[in-house]
Amino acid sequence: MSLSDSAFISALQKIVGAEQVITHPSDLEPYLIDWRKRYKGQALAALRPANTLEVSEIVKLCSANQIAIVPQGGNTGMCGGATPNPTGRQVVISLQRMNQVRSVDIANQTMTVEAGCILKNVQEAAAAANRYFPLSLGSEGSCTIGGNLSTNAGGTAVLRYGNTRELCLGLEVVLPSGEILNSLRGLRKDNTGYDLRDLFIGAEGSLGIITAAVIKIFPTPVAQWTALVAVPHAQGAVELLNLFQSGASAQLTGFEMMSDESLALLKHYYPPLASPLDGPNAYEVLVEISDYESEEHAMQLMETILEKALESGCATDAAIASSLSQAQKFWDMREHIPLAQADDGQNIKHDVSLPISAIPNFIETCNTLLRREYPGVRVINYGHLGDGNLHYNIAGASSKETGEFFTKYSKEIQALVYKEVEKYNGSISAEHGVGQQKVDYLVGHRGDIAVQVMKSIKQALDPHSLMNPGKVLAS
Ligand code: FAD
Ligand code: MLT
Ligand code: ZN
Repeated sequence: MSLSDSAFISALQKIVGAEQVITHPSDLEPYLIDWRKRYKGQALAALRPANTLEVSEIVKLCSANQIAIVPQGGNTGMCGGATPNPTGRQVVISLQRMNQVRSVDIANQTMTVEAGCILKNVQEAAAAANRYFPLSLGSEGSCTIGGNLSTNAGGTAVLRYGNTRELCLGLEVVLPSGEILNSLRGLRKDNTGYDLRDLFIGAEGSLGIITAAVIKIFPTPVAQWTALVAVPHAQGAVELLNLFQSGASAQLTGFEMMSDESLALLKHYYPPLASPLDGPNAYEVLVEISDYESEEHAMQLMETILEKALESGCATDAAIASSLSQAQKFWDMREHIPLAQADDGQNIKHDVSLPISAIPNFIETCNTLLRREYPGVRVINYGHLGDGNLHYNIAGASSKETGEFFTKYSKEIQALVYKEVEKYNGSISAEHGVGQQKVDYLVGHRGDIAVQVMKSIKQALDPHSLMNPGKVLAS
């Protein structure tokens, strides 16, 4: 028999301590709304366990009482995956107190970290061991490694180091039954049966709660050189990428594209971050080279490739950062674009991936169709071009109109953009995940059979659908 709400809360308090069971409305508020302020839910409580055993006990109690669970890390997700539904019958489990680096193994090039570790702290822990953890996102000051694993986050270093999935060797997971699956092995090879680790990575908390992970760390580059490059069109950016890929190969560690309208928005909301290049330029590209030899070697490589690019015409102007602070400014420019968009109001977000070769045509077609149908529309198009990942975001003609434009046209604009994505065999979620935002698009995108397999996996692990129901798969 299920406990009454008050008995359930008392039982939770016994597991984690009364102060870690948050029920007061004003304290609960931040756990109920997502970063973009698009989704708002309700919850019986937010729980802040200190260790894996506490997570396991909470999950067992929830399972016995048929109370659904929403795992939450830094709550920076873009698709509403960490927001409870409006029924008030779910609990949020925040992993933020589980923030210990359990061990660093230099010879094995790995670290074992708890899920609630803030990404920036993980980077700093690696640096303190004279190693490098390459995952890097604009949200790194508040997102957690558990959230990064659960969304299989991308970010700005994917073209060299891969998504979060590729940075993970082992996981500890609390299953929907409350049992603890311990696969915290730091092995680069292990072919013993199905790869369970990869099931939980990118599952957005729908199959279990990640409580710890073994992650890869790398030697620290001795030099990193950054440049901002103007290109005349998207095709120019693709050609520039090819030049850098042939010239720098694995030393190319960042290739980010920003459209003129993205840069105009940035200049409006963050004037000190206005581009130093003469503009407007159709696109500006941020390029980063990392080198294991020397500063001179890196600089020479950057200069040689840029000279070729300027000669060939795929670049029209370039500035190489002459100091660490200028390099930081270039990165700040790129990373403040989503912040400028948030300041501007609601926008119709698309996190798409495409074959890199298809990107110029995709942009051209979508821009033309959208501008014809919605005169004055702003296309805030930026992203990780080196991975074929665009944040092709659409906003109304001015900041004042964003709310109305969003409500009126979201569905049809998304349909238009996704139709173009499918023409090129692209993806409607490159790195942000599905959450609740894209649930309705999953079957259309992945097809019946793939979604049926996903549902079978969900049913096998979580037969009562208690783990983040309604996220990834429709409940
Ligand atoms: P949350 O938002 O708390 O949760 C995300 C999802 O994971 C939810 O479904 C949640 O239920 C689940 N979850 C969280 N923790 C766990 C756990 N321990 N076990 C099981 N499930 C869990 N994303 C990118 O990919 N690339 C970017 O470049 C990028 N840049 C960003 C820049 C800004 C300014 C912002 C605000 C966001 C950005 N993001 C980016 C999106 C976001 O930061 C990532 O999705 C990040 O990985 C989410 O981590 P989090 O800890 O905040 O997770
Ligand atoms: C980014 O690349 O800046 C992020 O994925 C966030 C976003 O697009 O809003
Ligand atoms: Zn991104």
